[in-house]
Amino acid sequence: MHLLIQLTVMVVAFISHEHKVVAQYVQPYTSIVVPVIKHTDAAKPLYSVQIMTSFANSQYMKANFLIDIDAPLIWHDCILKWNISPGSCPSNTLCTSPVSCEEDYCTDVRTTYSYDNPSCPPVTNSSTLPGWGYCTCPVNVVDPVTGACVQALLNYDDFTVNTSNGSNVFSGLYGPSPNAACAPTSSFESFPVNVNGVMAFSSSPYALPAYLYQPLKKILALCLPSNSSAPGVLFFGIGPYSLLPHSDVDLRSLLSYTPLLKQRDSFGYFIDVKSIVIKHVSIDIPEHATSKFSTTEAYTTLRTDIYNRVIQTFSMATIGIPHAKPVAPFTLCFRTFDMGTRVGLKFPDMDFSLPDGKKWTISPTNSMKQVTKDVVCLAIVDGGVATEHSIVIGTFQFEDNFIVFDLENSAFGFSSSLLGEQTSCANFNFTIT
Ligand SMILES: *[C@@H]1O[C@H](CO)[C@@H](O)[C@H](O)[C@H]1NC(C)=O
Ligand SMILES: *[C@@H]1O[C@H](CO)[C@@H](O)[C@H](O)[C@H]1NC(C)=O
Ligand SMILES: *[C@@H]1O[C@H](CO)[C@@H](O)[C@H](O)[C@H]1NC(C)=O
Ligand SMILES: *[C@@H]1O[C@H](CO)[C@@H](O)[C@H](O)[C@H]1NC(C)=O
Ligand SMILES: *[C@@H]1O[C@H](CO)[C@@H](O)[C@H](O)[C@H]1NC(C)=O
Repeated sequence: MHLLIQLTVMVVAFISHEHKVVAQYVQPYTSIVVPVIKHTDAAKPLYSVQIMTSFANSQYMKANFLIDIDAPLIWHDCILKWNISPGSCPSNTLCTSPVSCEEDYCTDVRTTYSYDNPSCPPVTNSSTLPGWGYCTCPVNVVDPVTGACVQALLNYDDFTVNTSNGSNVFSGLYGPSPNAACAPTSSFESFPVNVNGVMAFSSSPYALPAYLYQPLKKILALCLPSNSSAPGVLFFGIGPYSLLPHSDVDLRSLLSYTPLLKQRDSFGYFIDVKSIVIKHVSIDIPEHATSKFSTTEAYTTLRTDIYNRVIQTFSMATIGIPHAKPVAPFTLCFRTFDMGTRVGLKFPDMDFSLPDGKKWTISPTNSMKQVTKDVVCLAIVDGGVATEHSIVIGTFQFEDNFIVFDLENSAFGFSSSLLGEQTSCANFNFTIT
């Protein structure tokens, strides 16, 4: 009897579940996708995403935003207008709606997310818009190229991006409406040409991921290109993800995972690097050392004590390769030509050893930078004796690697160089299906 009731319950549950599945509309996309461009015309290499910002004259205007996985807030070149009507926005200008100084959101951003640092002027309520009865909400943001403080005004924004199933781009669009901030055109002078915004991908409640909802899962997959002439790719959402020519290979099958850590007072992403291993020699990283990712630092920066041991170990492991005069900011450089003949270069891998016996292999493509025709250098830099983070992992070390910041499961997923898989970050098929 008891069993019969249980069975009946199960059957009823199954029927109602079936019913729900049939009735539920399943989105054809699993992620949003944007191209990633490498820029080499600013003070340091930087990467941007192209995003559609407004719809005018029956087409989308597009803008390039620097990828910043650390920034608390999105900001870009736009102006505030409280009464936007068709034709009222000056041409070549992006108009958005203001947030007033009386809204809680304004206070929250100012007290928690706005930069509070001696180089930043104090924020005031003085600015207003003609005909609008409220004050605007100035906040401080930081220019990731110069480190300078910039004052920007909070707004209500609208962006549009393409959807994808991980192997193709769909014509269906996704439109997040985040709060962001507008800064004057002159604030972007240090940025690469045609880049006039910062897209925050951090864990801050005011970064883009916080404004992306179901069916998107909170998973950021990043594949930085190594060459400016072909775009890499950024996905947000659960996989699969694939690159040509292996459209049948889900890149998730190439990933290893390690816990993604949080640090107080930072919206950035951290992992636990236990040691750096070069040709079986292990350089232990002191406990309590923090290892952070950066998309605005070009090269991995190590605190001096760690840096010195890495340089020494790498030197020992490359005995026989002729040294070259160091080229700043690097200190260990090698000649690729010796007395007119090409030297047989065989550089070792550099492994980041992680908890649970995992390791992230940085192959020579991601550790040795060709600085001139005849010279390559170990592309890591000395961060000084008192850096805030012992290790800051810079972009050169993960170009053409597929990496995933899985915010749902607090995990960091990484492939090693995709070049070893006969593909690269520039191989996503952006042709619209
Ligand atoms: C700005 O105005 C709001 C609302 O009147 C007030 O709560 C806030 O303290 C003011 N902030 C500054 C920095 O003056
Ligand atoms: C993605 O969509 C394209 C076009 O509809 C289809 O050919 C392809 O098999 C799909 N890929 C996946 C992984 O679902
Ligand atoms: C995204 O879709 C829009 C509209 O369908 C299209 O104009 C644009 O080129 C697409 N962007 C990319 C990167 O495929
Ligand atoms: C980038 O790609 C272009 C065009 O394919 C090629 O000519 C150039 O050598 C590449 N640059 C690097 C640094 O690989
Ligand atoms: C890229 O995608 C388009 C649109 O789905 C498809 O027609 C084309 O065959 C794909 N290219 C390759 C090389 O698979």
